[in-house]
Amino acid sequence: MTLDQLKPQIITIVSDTNKTVDERLLSICEVLESNVPYYNWVGFYFTNGDKKELKLGPYVGAPTDHTIIPFGKGICGQVAVSNQNFVVPDVSAQDNYIACSITVKAEIVVPIFVNGKNIGQIDIDSNTIDPFTEADERFLEFVCAQVATVLS
Ligand code: SME
Repeated sequence: MTLDQLKPQIITIVSDTNKTVDERLLSICEVLESNVPYYNWVGFYFTNGDKKELKLGPYVGAPTDHTIIPFGKGICGQVAVSNQNFVVPDVSAQDNYIACSITVKAEIVVPIFVNGKNIGQIDIDSNTIDPFTEADERFLEFVCAQVATVLS
């Protein structure tokens, strides 16, 4: 299954108004984790109200202690500030990184924009070193744009 072939499933999930938004987000995590071999932890973080911090939303993978991440901290917190994708081929080379599991080798974080505002992000950890390409960035931008339509 290529990334592009997953797009129709993402649209179907997002459009399912019989499910809550969190149920739909969890389904997206499940589809991504189960169909892309190098996506080993898939989750959403969202800005926590008026606070300068991210709060963990639906996710699939090993439970994490990092349910709240201050803006600027770790890869996720940096994306909350930079508003840009962050692709980390090798997490061991990052100074500002929050380790969730020793099995994780690489990470990608793509922000979610609603009305031009960065309101959260999708975060994916990989147990494979340097697995992400521009195809992942474009695909995850598509996923985030789809998610944004139900958050606005
Ligand atoms: N590694 C992330 C923390 C979140 S976990 O990957 C689930 C970071 O550095 O922000």
